[in-house]
Order: sequence, then C-alpha cells, then structure tokens
Amino acid sequence: MTKTLGLIGAGNIGSALARLAVTAGLDVVLSNSRGPKTLADLLTELGPRARAATPAEAAELCDLVVATIPLGAYDQLPPAALAGKTVIDTMNYYPDRDGHIAELDEGGLTSSALVQRHLADSKVVKAFNNIDFVRLFTLARPAGAPDRSALPIAGDDAEAKAEATALLDVLGYDAVDIGTLAESWRSQPGTPVYVDPYFTAKPAKELNQKEMYGWYVQAPGTSVPADRIRALADSAVRPAPDHA
Ligand SMILES: NC(=O)c1ccc[n+]([C@@H]2O[C@H](COP(=O)([O-])OP(=O)(O)OC[C@H]3O[C@@H](n4cnc5c(N)ncnc54)[C@H](OP(=O)(O)O)[C@@H]3O)[C@@H](O)[C@H]2O)c1
Repeated sequence: MTKTLGLIGAGNIGSALARLAVTAGLDVVLSNSRGPKTLADLLTELGPRARAATPAEAAELCDLVVATIPLGAYDQLPPAALAGKTVIDTMNYYPDRDGHIAELDEGGLTSSALVQRHLADSKVVKAFNNIDFVRLFTLARPAGAPDRSALPIAGDDAEAKAEATALLDVLGYDAVDIGTLAESWRSQPGTPVYVDPYFTAKPAKELNQKEMYGWYVQAPGTSVPADRIRALADSAVRPAPDHA
C-alpha cells in the first residue's frame, strides 16, 4: 500500500481526501492549477505530512495519484508523468460546468473511459465519484466499524483495483467492484448509487441557495453498506444517449 498519495486537484474532494489521508498516517502531495503557493493555508491545516507541488511533480513523486479536477480539464492531466501509475478518477461529467463532450453526450463512452484514453499508459480506477465531499469526510470509519460505508470502484486492471481497494480501506471505506471502466456508467450522476443514498433525508421545505448550502454542509450522512451499494449499482439503467 502506498505511503504517499498524490492529488491533482485540491478543491472539495481533493482536500477531503487529503484530510482523510493524513489522518490515516499517509503523506500527501497536493497540486492544483494555480500553483503550490496557493495551497499554503491547506498545508498549514494538514500539517507536516502534506506538501504542495505542480500536477506533474505530484504525479512523478507518487505511485498512486488521485485526479480530482473538473472533467472539462481532463486533457490537462499529464500523461507522461502519470505513465505506469494507478490513477484514481473521481470526476463526473456535468456539461453545464465542463462544456459538452460529444462522445459522452452520445453515450458511447463513460467519462472514466475517456480519461483512460487520455492517460493511455496509466491504470485508471473510478472511485470517490458517487459521494459528496462533506459525507466523504464525515462517513469515513475504520475497518470493521458497524457503520462503515462502501463506495463503488470500476477499472480495467485488477492490480490497480486492488490498490484502490487498499486506499479506500485505509481512508475509511469498503470497496464494491462494479466492473470495468465501460461499466462505470453504473455510478455516474443520475444513477441510484449516486450521492443520495448517503443522505438521511432531503430538506423539509424549499430552500434558497444559501439556505441549501447551510443544510447541505450540516446534513447528517447515513452509512451505506457494501450489499446496498451492490444492489443499487445492479439496479442502474443506462440513460438514453443525448442527441440534443
Ligand atoms: N464536490 C463533490 O462533492 C464531488 C463529489 C464527487 C465527485 N466530484 C467530482 O470530483 C471532481 C472535483 O470536484 P471538486 O468539487 O473537488 O472540484 P473543485 O472544488 O472545483 O476543485 C477543483 C480542483 O481542481 C483543480 N484544477 C482545475 N483544473 C486543473 C488543472 N487543469 N490541473 C490541475 N488542477 C486543476 C482546481 O485548482 P485551482 O483552484 O487552482 O483551479 C481545484 O483544486 C469533479 O470532477 C467533480 O465532478 C465532486
């Protein structure tokens, strides 16, 4: 199991994963688009196990790297620096944010297969994409805890999936293998396993955007065990292609 986790992207998900990793005793190398100096506050919070670098440096320094940036920037992930590495892909496709990507709209390719095609010499595993960043942090539990949750993983390489499973375990989650990258649509946005299962309830009344954010940050999560994740992923129905 890796002792140093690389992170390309240090926003909501990247920083939640970094917090879980340093808590678990891993070192982390964080990177973003604006440069290492902009990560000073986060490094102070994370303490001596964390350092900042450029994305290429984070990739080169670590065997296991999490790519956690807006999907629209996937083609800026550095293929040469990530060659031979396992890359955990947390990314989801939101056309309003990412711009339209024709192959994804047509439904022929999953977003993680697109990332794998760009990172042809890496081993991509989709994980951490189906839980929101607040519950990702608050629902983490040690192995064997009765309220430990599971997350789906998908990938084409068995060894890389084993590495991802070991990382999930250390960070506080069981892993449920839902298949290949081609099958990873089962955990994409809009599927039964996506985000909602980890919430106990929806807001009691209609909220404005600010109220909604306050509710979202404080809403308690609920643990979702592996058999439930498996059943939810199995129940997914592939959405029809969007030819708009
Ligand atoms: N938010 C969630 O709850 C959630 C849950 C599951 C999955 N996801 C998915 O995970 C990914 C990250 O989400 P997020 O909410 O963490 O996003 P975010 O808060 O907007 O953070 C994005 C991070 O990516 C960095 N970044 C952007 N372009 C980059 C590039 N070309 N090279 C290196 N770093 C770059 C940003 O750096 P700068 O700030 O310096 O630009 C920032 O640190 C997205 O694909 C999202 O759909 C999100």
